[in-house]
Amino acid sequence: MNNYFATVARGLEETAAVELAELGATNIRPDFAGVHFQGDKALLYRVNLWARIIFRVLVPIAEVKSYNSQQLYRSVQKLNWSAYLQPDMSIAVNCTGKNNNLNHTHFTALQIKNAIVDWQKDKYGERSNIDVEKPDLLINAHIHKNQCILSLDSSGSSLHRRGYRPAMGIAPLKETLAAALITMSDWTPDLPFLDPLCGSGTLAIEAALKALNIAPGLYRQQFGFQTWLDFDRSLWQQIRQEAEANKLPELSAPIIGSDRDLDIIEQARVNVQNCGLDTQVRFYQQELSEIEAPADQGIIICNPPYGQRIGNTEELGALYKLLGDIFKQRFTGWTAYIITGNKELAKKIGLRTSRRLPVYNGSLPCTLLKYELY
Ligand SMILES: C[S@@+](CC[C@H](N)C(=O)[O-])C[C@H]1O[C@@H](n2cnc3c(N)ncnc32)[C@H](O)[C@@H]1O
Repeated sequence: MNNYFATVARGLEETAAVELAELGATNIRPDFAGVHFQGDKALLYRVNLWARIIFRVLVPIAEVKSYNSQQLYRSVQKLNWSAYLQPDMSIAVNCTGKNNNLNHTHFTALQIKNAIVDWQKDKYGERSNIDVEKPDLLINAHIHKNQCILSLDSSGSSLHRRGYRPAMGIAPLKETLAAALITMSDWTPDLPFLDPLCGSGTLAIEAALKALNIAPGLYRQQFGFQTWLDFDRSLWQQIRQEAEANKLPELSAPIIGSDRDLDIIEQARVNVQNCGLDTQVRFYQQELSEIEAPADQGIIICNPPYGQRIGNTEELGALYKLLGDIFKQRFTGWTAYIITGNKELAKKIGLRTSRRLPVYNGSLPCTLLKYELY
């Protein structure tokens, strides 16, 4: 069994822990902005391919003393890097956290990188190149007090980069947050799903991937572990093939996104085409005031502007009021969820919430508001 650490947005630790359990992880322990778990190499590959909510899976390799930069340098040089790295492989080092002496993450990362390549020069007479874009080995260092946890980043780039969304509307949700909101809602694939403010379509597309049992990682070109010395190509192929074979052919209930902005709807269509799901998910241009319920019951999840990045507060107040009015008048029998980072605007909805779930959108504290529409 290996130890792993999944990084996740603040507030989603418990939701991610459930996801990891479903994927077969053991000894799961949520922590701040991450979840510790255990499993074998197949689980590592499976989590990278299937996880909808987490950002990265780190593989801790050592915990070393790091009171200051000299001690960190010496500690890093004591490790046997040949187990992970050959001079013909490129590297990059990312650092998070700090202490009194190591209080600049770039400098700390540089110190670790220097220690590793100097170790290589002593051992082999040659050293790895640095490649911050696409390194063969991405090393993650986390400084906490006088300790540094060194890990290998098995994901490479963050898993929210699914690979299906080059086209982004204004203020798109991260795919991982969209997937988390869907999981936190009462939506199940047998219920109609509607996002009437869909932008580039992230919520609708993530709902469709879930409904069709599609592993989000199937759209990605590359994961960090694929350039590791211990990469098991046939195991990876087998896990991908299983995922391909487990896709479902058709949605059992409609998934619909609409937005008043035709250019943004075109982007949503490009994104869903990239997933090969353009015959499944429907995106159309529609002003919110003209929307009608497409079925007697279903789930709405939407992400109106909060006034932080787009829109002005007065106009947005009218939009939030309109959302409340439309839900009440035309969506009897449905359950609606709104994520917002603006409490004043939320009051304009004018409906009684049945739940309020705290979430972060990036660094912004937000709430997922639930409305049962009788
Ligand atoms: C924050 S964005 C949604 C982003 C989306 N979740 C994504 O991931 O791309 C809000 C969207 O609401 C749309 N919108 C604002 N007012 C609207 C209205 N009255 N009717 C329909 N759409 C509206 C905007 O065009 C914008 O695309």
